Parts: sequence; C-alpha cells; structure tokens
Amino acid sequence: MIGRLLTRVFDAQDRWTKPFGDAVHGLLHPLFQRLSWLRDLLIGRWLGHPLHPALTDAPIGILLLVTVFDVLGQPDAASVSLVVGVLAVLAAAVSGLADFADTDGRARVRATLHGTIMVVALVGYLVSLLLRLSDSTSPAGIGLSALSFLVVILGAYVGGDVAYVLGNMVNRHAFRGAGTKWLTLEPAEMAPDGSIPVGRPIRARLGANNLVLVNDGTRILALHDTCAHGGGPLPEGQVVDGQIECPWHYSRFELATGHVRRGPSVYDQPAYEVRERDGGGWEARRKATGGG
Ligand code: FES
Repeated sequence: MIGRLLTRVFDAQDRWTKPFGDAVHGLLHPLFQRLSWLRDLLIGRWLGHPLHPALTDAPIGILLLVTVFDVLGQPDAASVSLVVGVLAVLAAAVSGLADFADTDGRARVRATLHGTIMVVALVGYLVSLLLRLSDSTSPAGIGLSALSFLVVILGAYVGGDVAYVLGNMVNRHAFRGAGTKWLTLEPAEMAPDGSIPVGRPIRARLGANNLVLVNDGTRILALHDTCAHGGGPLPEGQVVDGQIECPWHYSRFELATGHVRRGPSVYDQPAYEVRERDGGGWEARRKATGGG
C-alpha cells in the first residue's frame, strides 16, 4: 500500500526532523505562551475549530490556478494567482506555527516535515515569481510552479498525517457518547467528614468515565478528566478563577460549563452536573451540550 511506503520514507527523516523540530519548538512554545491571545486567535479558539486546516484550502486552490492559467496561456493571470497564492501560504503558515507551538512526540516530528516541505514549495514559487518578473512566459518559471505544486501536494499529505494519523488538534472527546443518565459518582478521595475536599481538583469515577471534581465551597463542579486538546490529565492541573488549567499545555476550561477559555484547545470540555443522592453519596450526569 502506498501509504505504508510513504510512512517509511517519512519516518526515515526523523534523524533531522526530530532535532530540528525540537529546536523550533523551543523558540515558538515560550513565545506563544507569552502571546497566548495571539496563539488563540491563530489556532481558532474563537471559531471552536482549528483554523490552520481551513486556511490551507485557500493556497492549495489558488496555486492550482497558477498551473491552470499557465496551461491556458494566461501568463498575467498566472502571475497574479502566484502572488495571491504566496500570500495565502504565508497566512496559513502563521496559523500552522501557532499549532506547532503545542505539539509533542510524533506529531511534532511529522509537523516539522510538513512545514519544511511547505517552505521548499514556497521557495520554489518565489523563484518562479522572480523568473516571471523578467519574462512572464519563462519556461523555467512555469516549470518551477508546476513542480512546486507537486511539492505542495506532498506537504499537504504529510499535514493530513499530523491530524488524521497522529490525531494532533483532534478533539479527544470526538467519540465519547453523550448519554445524560444519572450515575453513581465515586470520588477517589474524601475529607474526614465524608465531604468532597474543597478548592482542589480530585479524581472521580462515573460509570466508564473518569472525571475531575472541584468543590468550590458551594457546589461540586465536574468535567471529564481528559483534556480535549491532547489528553492531558486535568486532575493534575490547577484551579484558576473558576477554571481548571491543563498541566500539559495550559488550556483552561470553565469548571461550571466546560467552555474553553484559553488555548491551545479549541474544543470545550465535557461538563457534568452533580447532585447529592438520596441516602448519601453523589450522582452525576453529562450536561446535554457541554454548556450550562
Ligand atoms: S493536553 Fe494540551 S492543553 Fe491539555
């Protein structure tokens, strides 16, 4: 199968993509942590959907037009498309860098390969543009654009791997059922008086799901314990202003609603309502929409 062959070829690049990716990540991660408002804008938290994959459709479509116009003998239209396509690549790249700042493991390595291939394509298009400036029908410029488009397609394939094969920026609760039946809640720890300890996150079991509970002194707030962004353990996070902060990349979710308030998650966290059970103990159920 062609996918397995390509995966072997991509994996063989780990020797350089891993150290290179780690070095770039070492620069980008602290930068975007400081500029978290910019990171959230670029990753699409405001949209509730990753922005990068949506933005990448534009340059791919526009850059295809470059070759289409070349084939049709429309050099001016091809040049205009090339300029617009390059600008669209840059816009997509900026959002991709913001995503990259919170990647780990295989996703980071493969995203490094994806980004490098796209830079190679971008350089090809820029050289093509230079050649077209002196001669809009330059065979070298036209050929280089066509070649660069093939490189873009390869880069898009690798980028698809990052999301679909490695699950980067995929909602960790995509396949979780949304049943809203009341079930017995089993906190992992209790205060000596039998209550749920106040002010700090504790683990709890709810049927097949693991939750994080926070007793804020007036009510018990509950979210799923697995961070929607990358699976981080929310019970190990800290409570900040009614939100819980993931210990891995510091996404914050409102404890009362599960709404994401700071990236890199662009997804809300499943939220649960908790009530005392007749005869003692607690029960909980998933909130219908994750809101509240
Ligand atoms: S796993 Fe990335 S913020 Fe939680």
